[in-house]
Amino acid sequence: MKKVTKAVFPVAGLGSRFLPATKASPKEMMPIVDKPLIQYAVEEAVAAGVTDLVFITGRSKRAIEDHFDKAYELETELEMRGKMELLKIVRDTVPAHVNCIYIRQAEALGLGHAVLCAAPVVGEEPFAVLLADDLLDGQGDLPVMRQMVDVYNYNRCSVLGVMNVDREQTKHYGVVSTERDSGEVQRVTGIVEKPKPEEAPSTQAVIGRYILTGRIFDHLRQLKPGAGGELQLTDAIASLLQEEAVLAYQFKGVRYDCGSKLGYLQATVELGLKHPEVGVEFAAFLASRGS
Ligand code: UTP
Repeated sequence: MKKVTKAVFPVAGLGSRFLPATKASPKEMMPIVDKPLIQYAVEEAVAAGVTDLVFITGRSKRAIEDHFDKAYELETELEMRGKMELLKIVRDTVPAHVNCIYIRQAEALGLGHAVLCAAPVVGEEPFAVLLADDLLDGQGDLPVMRQMVDVYNYNRCSVLGVMNVDREQTKHYGVVSTERDSGEVQRVTGIVEKPKPEEAPSTQAVIGRYILTGRIFDHLRQLKPGAGGELQLTDAIASLLQEEAVLAYQFKGVRYDCGSKLGYLQATVELGLKHPEVGVEFAAFLASRGS
């Protein structure tokens, strides 16, 4: 039985909605309180049993590589000053048993293309895809990718993380149709990218969490570039589900769209309030200004 041990992190997008912050560093390095978005996603994947992290990087990739690498000068400096707690934080960005693999996406040709870049490393195995700009706060401390791996282990087929959105919002997402109208795990019958509200087959939107079987790569290879010359992952999934079962999973937890300014601010407030060091004072601050 093949387990999900590899996770792909496409981090080569332009991040244009956050310019100029993303001019020289990827949006996945933007922090929510004190951790970059990519570290939240990596921790979620590792908690789900992933041991190989495959980053699909683009321009200004160095920040992400450096973040998960040893930082000799900083570590020596912290050690000399006896700042052992900080030293631990710096060393623990990724556990010792986990491998980081970096693949360069030369041109931002779309999410589908970014995922296809991981094919030589992933091979035939099932694998996870995490878009780090979707920050997911799993319910009851059960990380969302852990929940999805459980669904995969039981059903042995691709699993898409979905949530209900207002019909007005369907134009921002991939939207699935399913065999039934409700239920935590449902079989997908169709998927379309960014449908107009009046054309959307449902209001179940795909968020940035996927478990895909290795078959997806063949479907990606056969895709013709869509709008803007981009390869859409959604189109490859639409083709995959003609061949094998794909499930939609209504995850338990809260999703923050940190690729948008509003979602980023919401995540900052909510995670700031939960933060062990500053949460109480931050709550008092918000209360003092009547928010
Ligand atoms: P987005 O649609 O959010 O695009 O990509 P973006 O370029 O990152 O951000 P905006 O819209 O310009 O502000 C969804 C995910 O796919 C990755 C992005 O890094 C993001 O995690 N991606 C997208 C790639 O890795 N390569 C691509 O060619 C496109």
